[in-house]
This record gives sequence, C-alpha cells and structure tokens, in this order.
Amino acid sequence: MDTPRKLIAGNWKMNGTAAALAEIAAMADAARDLPPNLTVAVCPPATLIDRARVAAGEGPLIVGAQDVHAEPAGAFTGSVSVEMLADAGAKLVIVGHSERRADCGETNPDVRAKAEAVVAAGLTAVVCVGETEAERDAGDALSVIAGQLDGSLPANATRLAVAYEPVWAIGTGRTPTALQIAEVHAAIRSDLIARYGDAGAATPVLYGGSVKPSNATELLHVDNVDGALVGGASLTAADFLAIVRAAVR
Ligand code: PGA
Repeated sequence: MDTPRKLIAGNWKMNGTAAALAEIAAMADAARDLPPNLTVAVCPPATLIDRARVAAGEGPLIVGAQDVHAEPAGAFTGSVSVEMLADAGAKLVIVGHSERRADCGETNPDVRAKAEAVVAAGLTAVVCVGETEAERDAGDALSVIAGQLDGSLPANATRLAVAYEPVWAIGTGRTPTALQIAEVHAAIRSDLIARYGDAGAATPVLYGGSVKPSNATELLHVDNVDGALVGGASLTAADFLAIVRAAVR
C-alpha cells in the first residue's frame, strides 16, 4: 500500500485582494525547500487565482480554488467551471466545504458532482466532511461523516483528498482532542479502503478547523492525519509556513 502524500492547503475564503499576493510569493519561496512528499497549496478567492499563480512562480506551491460549478459551461450566472479554474492556473479545488453546505444549500449529490468534474478535468478534489456540534453531542458524528462520505465521494480515488472539518471547530479556536480526531480519521481511512482498496489507503485525509502554529505539531501527528486544511492561519505566510514546517517535523 502506498503511503499517503502529505498535503497542507490554505483556504482564504472571501479574503484577499492584490495586496495579499506578496504573502503568496513568500509562501512559494519557502515551498521550494520542502521535501517532495509534502504538497502545499493555497486557495485564494477565484478573482486572485491567475495572479496568485504568477506570484507563485515556477516553484512547487500549488494554487487552488474554493468551489466550482459541476457543469462545464452554460447559463449559471456568477459561477465558474473547472475548465475556467484550470485556465486560471488552479490545480486543486475544495468541494463541499461546510460553509457552502450550510450557506448555499449544497447537498451530498451536489458535492459529488463537483468532485467528479474536478477529477475528470485532471485537478485534485479536496472533499470536506464534518459534523456540527449538535450532531457530535448527540453521538452521531461518525454516522454523519459516513453518510457524507457515501454521498459525496467520487467513483474513484484518483486525485482525491478528504478533509475532516468539524463544523464547530471552524473559525472558533476550538479543536477536537487528539483522540477524537484519531477516531474520526481511522473511520474515514477504513471507509476509503473499503471503497477504493489500496488507493483508499493512499488518499490524504486532512484535518481542518482552527489549525494554528501553536497546535499544528500536535494535530498533524495524530494517526491517519495526512495534513491540514487551514483557514484563518493561511492568510499570512508567517503563520501558514509555521504550520507547514510542523508537518515536516
Ligand atoms: P479555520 O478554517 O482554520 O479558520 O478554522 C478552516 C476551514 O474552514 O477550512
């Protein structure tokens, strides 16, 4: 079985204008010295993708997107297709983030259609799953996540990563215990192996939700944690790179 590659991805959400491109250039500079089994990606708003790609230069820093429309083209006002994202320089797309599931009503089938469109175009899909606080308190975290995996994962594991992001940990400064993360990541790993075989053993499973320089070393060394999806702390090169360095240790 292949060992999963490590992946640290930054999700800028609705933050960033041209003034922030210097942060991406600094991230790209530092990414040149990283070990080859560690991929680092940053997902700025769609408006910045092409300029971020230029700012990142020729190095290994990947530029990604935060969402995509599943259809290739058409009358979908305000949306962008995977072909457009690829044309702008994106190599990775986050799909099914809880903010889109909650705020934009995205369903599991919507997320799966997006993931399929992303991988079919040769980009990497990062499929997000995670329970709300009420679901965890009710003892339903694992069953909710199993349902999200079953409903949103694409048919095969090529160019796929999964991000476990407990909704109650996103942007709150709260994180699950190492034990809670290990339990969920083990369940996700079993699901991926049952679903995809050896390819599921090699699929990176990221943790996301209030990852910061101060907790990254602990969170990134939990069993079956192959990297992180980082929101707020990915906005500055200093914080993001501190998290990336924690993944190397
Ligand atoms: P956060 O966001 O790191 O700001 O908690 C994580 C995410 O939503 O991907």
